[in-house]
Amino acid sequence: MAEANRPHRPGGVAVIAGYHIASHAQQPPDDRRLAALASLCFGSYPGVLRPSLGFVRWFLRRPGLAPALSQAAWHGDELVASLFVTEAVLSVGLSPCRVGLVDTVMTAPEHRGQGLASALIKRAIDAAASLGLEAMLLYTSPDTGPYRLYASLGFRHVKSLDYWRRPPGACSGSEPCAWETLLSPEPEDLAAEYEQLMLSHDGVPVHDARLWRWRKRQRPASIRPTLWRVRGQGAPAMATCARLRLTGEGSSLLLSDVLFSEPACLQALCARMPPDIPLITVADTNDSQMRTALELAAFRPGAQEAMLSYCLDSGGAIAALSASKRPWLPLTESIIGI
Ligand SMILES: CC(C)(COP(=O)(O)OP(=O)(O)OC[C@H]1O[C@@H](n2cnc3c(N)ncnc32)[C@H](O)[C@@H]1OP(=O)(O)O)[C@@H](O)C(=O)NCCC(=O)NCCS
Repeated sequence: MAEANRPHRPGGVAVIAGYHIASHAQQPPDDRRLAALASLCFGSYPGVLRPSLGFVRWFLRRPGLAPALSQAAWHGDELVASLFVTEAVLSVGLSPCRVGLVDTVMTAPEHRGQGLASALIKRAIDAAASLGLEAMLLYTSPDTGPYRLYASLGFRHVKSLDYWRRPPGACSGSEPCAWETLLSPEPEDLAAEYEQLMLSHDGVPVHDARLWRWRKRQRPASIRPTLWRVRGQGAPAMATCARLRLTGEGSSLLLSDVLFSEPACLQALCARMPPDIPLITVADTNDSQMRTALELAAFRPGAQEAMLSYCLDSGGAIAALSASKRPWLPLTESIIGI
């Protein structure tokens, strides 16, 4: 394990009196309890999808979601804290990096401040280390309690991201970029096309047909996305768009997995969206091509998001993440839920 991560010492997880801590594999929490806890904990967390039972059921089918790494704390029969860990192979500098994506870290309000979330994270780190994963990654808002909690456990800030918002009615040019919607696309065809476009980015998970289906086709009906594509040799582009309601926001359209080679393409895509609804997206702060495209399309930057990493190998994964200058693909399902 890398020295850079101190202070968490693997194996040194405290027992917390009155609570029982187990992995989701040892003691599986049912989806109703998880949904109830998530809606209690994330109902007022800004900028995320409000959890519902349908959403939690879909999320539990996420390819790579690992019950042996995911953890929960129980007070008698009551589920009082939980987190998910998803195993994924992400490309970093064109090399595969085996990581555990940590999300939905939550403790019921009346059980907070006793070290439960810390204990679950430490157990997840130990379990991931024993499986040979290279790093744990998670997204959170900088300068918040959760950020300080992760930092105190040895997580390091490796990427910065921004939420961008385009107010309703913002004007758009009509650049000649021929976007078309994809109706019932075959995952096998599109996953390959998508990965090809993503070669320019870091943080891209291997998109086999199963992952593609889960991300694009199996979402609950209320957040089902529309896929957009510009065909052709010259300036291929793809994007995913879904109408949703984030906490603290009215109805908006989320653009995710936005990939293009011509900045004007994004402006052309926005011109195809309904004019009366805000558009939201998340982008790597250091992605200058994306920033140019977003500004051209009348988006404005808002809140920041941080990607933190805990190194589980001899430092190689963090070094690769920190050193790479390639733009980072924000996996919005780990940031806002889809
Ligand atoms: C964040 C959360 C999971 C922490 O759970 P917890 O079981 O209370 O966490 P712990 O007791 O292990 O750790 C608490 C430590 O984290 C920090 N911390 C966590 N939440 C904090 C907050 N809202 N304000 C200030 N500090 C906070 C403190 O440094 C605290 O340290 P201390 O005990 O020395 O004061 C819980 O507050 C929660 O469910 N929040 C809502 C959901 C959420 O924000 N999840 C994280 C999304 S990234």
